[in-house]
Amino acid sequence: MAGDYWQREPSGPATERSVALNLPGVSLQLTTAAGVFGAQRIDHGTMVLLRQAPTPAACSGVVDLGTGYGPIAVGMGMREPSSGVWAVDVNLRALELTRRNVAAAHLTNVVAAEPDEVPAALRFDRLYSNPPIKIGQDDLRSLLTGWLGRLADGGDGYLVVKQTMGADGLGRWLTDTGYPTLRAASKQGYRLLHVAARTGQAPRDALTAVDLAVVNRATGRRWSVLGRLSGGRSDSVQLLGSGAARLVVKIKQGAWWESQLARFADLVEGLRAAGYPTPPVLGHGSLGGDRFYLATEYVPGSQPAGMDVALARDVLAAVGLHAAVHPSPIRDWSAMITLFLNGGIAEHRFPPQLAELARQALDLVPNPVPALPTGDFVHGDLSTRNILVRAGRLSAVIDAEGFGTGTRTIDLVSMLASTGLQDRAAAELLIEQAIAASDESVFHACLAHQVLKALLSVGDDPPQLASAAERARGLLTFAQM
Ligand SMILES: C[S@@+](CC[C@H](N)C(=O)[O-])C[C@H]1O[C@@H](n2cnc3c(N)ncnc32)[C@H](O)[C@@H]1O
Repeated sequence: MAGDYWQREPSGPATERSVALNLPGVSLQLTTAAGVFGAQRIDHGTMVLLRQAPTPAACSGVVDLGTGYGPIAVGMGMREPSSGVWAVDVNLRALELTRRNVAAAHLTNVVAAEPDEVPAALRFDRLYSNPPIKIGQDDLRSLLTGWLGRLADGGDGYLVVKQTMGADGLGRWLTDTGYPTLRAASKQGYRLLHVAARTGQAPRDALTAVDLAVVNRATGRRWSVLGRLSGGRSDSVQLLGSGAARLVVKIKQGAWWESQLARFADLVEGLRAAGYPTPPVLGHGSLGGDRFYLATEYVPGSQPAGMDVALARDVLAAVGLHAAVHPSPIRDWSAMITLFLNGGIAEHRFPPQLAELARQALDLVPNPVPALPTGDFVHGDLSTRNILVRAGRLSAVIDAEGFGTGTRTIDLVSMLASTGLQDRAAAELLIEQAIAASDESVFHACLAHQVLKALLSVGDDPPQLASAAERARGLLTFAQM
């Protein structure tokens, strides 16, 4: 049996055994079994990690890479209930034991999962691992860098490795590979390696323990943070879990959001009743000061790699439902675009290299630009970033809380601008329907707006100017199609 503990389905009978896990504040029995690492007793290296590594920070997302029957995941999950631990393994017998150990410990913050069951967009604050050294050096290295690459900015890792199994060499290799690693402890022939916190942009506004208490009260459930969902531009988006339930919590800053989120919660009900594929709002409100939260149900799916005709048809069907609700005119996207094209533009200074492209965009519209039609729901940021797909089909439209009223052409042109000409047939379909939703002059106004936005969103260094110019040229070709 020894040696096949990293198989998906270990051979041989799963003879079980109970082992004791005793740590400060933790005392429980765990079930282990033959065919799983540490079948006889809790591994010494595992105990070194559990005793020497810091517990997770409050409200942090954690992964235990190669969880086995779950001693690290259960130990750490018990010590910090506001943090969620992904207990990841390839061995199904190990995962089943972990689930049983989690249930026996009455934990709702540990999720046993195969590697590809962890949402691809999720980023973690902490990785723990007693890694599977025996799978071989190359596989081990790519396993570790793959998961260390999923740490959020500021996230770090703790690995326990036997000194005689190449701990120091692994630490050096990680350092050379861009993951500065230090020896955090050395005990009983094991090294506890600390992979330094990732640097980068400071983590965006994250949930605190106080925020979590607010969300728990509002939703009537005790949640734990399972990680950050990457992909959004300016928001802090975190995935929360409580047993099998999932919640996405987004933090918004600025007093305006209080009423906007309340309007959004009402509107989503109407949209969903009409069949619009957007997740229900499960809570929203103040976190104190000018911070507000929006809690929505989690929809599995990922951002699409591109656009094709089947997906474009799904998007068109969803946008067709935008006519089912009529938001208040408090935020009128049509009026904002008209204002921008008529007056606003004079206030913006285009870099001289881009002025000619700005002029070409403005040539698409009359001067002055007449008011665009309005009255339908407008997402306001419809792009491939804000749709989710499963098996190539649209599973959800997300991040619509910046919604307003206006014409559906605005959203269709915004989607067109985000996909570009990756798939000509899909682009043609979006253009045809963007025009059908209003008329060609409205389409041109929305396109001009997108071109000018692309030209304005750059600094003045040459690569940025060149890529903005290329993007604008690409968008301008849609006027000719
Ligand atoms: C050294 S054991 C540690 C088990 C457990 N954490 C403990 O401390 O007792 C390493 C674990 O990594 C798992 N493993 C091997 N390859 C893996 C992979 N590609 N992804 C996730 N886990 C893997 C093995 O199945 C094994 O359970």
